[in-house]
This record gives sequence, C-alpha cells and structure tokens, in this order.
Amino acid sequence: MQTHPNLKGQWALITGASAGIGRACALTLARAGVNIYLTGRKEVELKAVQSECQSHGVQAPYMSGDLGDRSFVKELVEWSSSAQILINNAGTLTYAPVLEVTTDECEHMFAINVVAAYDVSRAIAEQMKKRGSGHLIFITSLAARNVNVHSVVYAATKHALSALAKGFRLELKKDLIKVTEIAPGMVDTEMRSAITHPEVLKAIASRTFKPIAAQDVANAALYALSSSEGCCPDLIELRPIVG
Ligand SMILES: NC(=O)c1ccc[n+]([C@@H]2O[C@H](COP(=O)([O-])OP(=O)(O)OC[C@H]3O[C@@H](n4cnc5c(N)ncnc54)[C@H](OP(=O)(O)O)[C@@H]3O)[C@@H](O)[C@H]2O)c1
Repeated sequence: MQTHPNLKGQWALITGASAGIGRACALTLARAGVNIYLTGRKEVELKAVQSECQSHGVQAPYMSGDLGDRSFVKELVEWSSSAQILINNAGTLTYAPVLEVTTDECEHMFAINVVAAYDVSRAIAEQMKKRGSGHLIFITSLAARNVNVHSVVYAATKHALSALAKGFRLELKKDLIKVTEIAPGMVDTEMRSAITHPEVLKAIASRTFKPIAAQDVANAALYALSSSEGCCPDLIELRPIVG
C-alpha cells in the first residue's frame, strides 16, 4: 500500500493496539504514513506492533497500561495530546447468560467500553477543538443496534458507546471534528478465546456464518479517514455474509 497524501505525517492514538482490530488498524495506518501512539496492557505485544509499524517508516511510541485506571488514562491523553486521529478500539466482553453476569463484570465492561472511551475522547477532542480539526473513530459493534443472547451487557455498553459517538458528532461538528462509528459483526480475533461456558460455546458453534477479518475493520477505518475535507462517513456497518 502507498502512503496516503492526506494522512501521511499525521498522528493517531489507537487504544487496544496490542491485538486484533487495533493491531490491524495500527499496521494499516502505518502503511499509509500515519505515526501511531500505541496503547494496551500487554507490553510484549505492543513492542511487536511498534516494530512492525516502524518498518513502514513511521514513528510508533507506545504506553502500556490499564484503561480501567483513571490515573493511567490521564497520563495517556497528556502523552498523546497532539493526536489528530483517535481510534477508540479497546473493548472487553464477558460472554454469559444475563442472569450469570456479575455486578463486577458488568461494571468492568462499562468502565472499559464506555467510561474510558468517553474520558479519552473528551480529552483528545478538547485538543482537536483548539486546532479546529480532527477525526474520532468509535469501534462499536452490530450489538450497538441489536441484542444477542449471552452478550446482553456487552450490547448495553455498545449501545451507550454508539450514543456517545452520535453526541460527539452533534456537538463537535461546528469545530470541524469528524466522528465515524464503525460497527462490525463477528470478527476473527482473540476476543472470544477466554470463553469456557458450555452453553455459550454451543451457541457460538451453531452460528452459520464465518467471522470477518480484523483487516476488514481496518480497511473501513482507512476509508473513513481518507474521506475528503467536506465529507465524513458517519456509520459503517460491517456484516459477515459468508456461511
Ligand atoms: N471481535 C469481534 O467479533 C468484535 C465485533 C464487533 C466489535 N468488536 C470491538 O472491537 C474492539 C476490538 O476488539 P478485538 O476483537 O480486536 O478484541 P481483542 O483481540 O481481544 O483486542 C482487544 C484490545 O483491547 C485491549 N484492552 C482490553 N481491555 C483493556 C484494558 N482494561 N485496558 C487497556 N486495553 C484493554 C486489549 O489490549 P491488552 O490485552 O494489551 O490490554 C486488546 O488490544 C472492541 O471494542 C470490541 O468490542 C469486536
């Protein structure tokens, strides 16, 4: 892939850049010439993504930490305050029947998927507003509009995140800050690797479609970021179609 004339030399903060969709976004933007602030908890994985990004000739510093820790979030947004692009990607999911999800699990999903995304977006958008430009991307899910069994609380967090994306768009349009929501269906990542609940495993095994690839989501992010000055894709839904 060639560097992109509108994106080359810009800086993007990508949360959850150590794996899956975040990693694919980091490598795709690096190939387009974008410098990346990488973050996630796993330092070894972040270092590996860093060197892959650097091999495309861009800068890719990383800061590891837990988005559930507010002092870390404060440090992160100060460190990456010059970002012209934010990809709010980090997310977590406990798959279980709704009556079995604990309050701690519910709080944790809201803390990472909603509260941390809000805190990071607010701080980065404040800086974008001062500069009079910027692009926020929210990775939600098809579960931002539907609710499926075994992921009810997760769907509630994604509905909330989608509402935040719409709200940021409404309020920041006048400051020329673009906001894109990317809502993928099932993606082939490690997100479901920790599932052990037999009922959930059975339900997943009975699905009749194949997941899409993390690269499909990264391609959608690149498409949104490449849109012309006067245009912004508000919502991109990505649906698995192959059985
Ligand atoms: N996979 C799907 O089917 C699917 C579908 C629709 C939407 N999504 C959304 O896409 C996003 C990325 O998911 P994925 O599929 O790429 O999952 P993944 O492979 O499990 O990656 C999740 C990323 O989030 C980071 N993360 C999780 N908890 C964190 C925490 N407490 N603090 C900091 N970073 C944290 C992880 O980094 P560390 O482990 O290094 O902390 C990792 O980089 C999520 O928001 C997810 O909801 C996924």
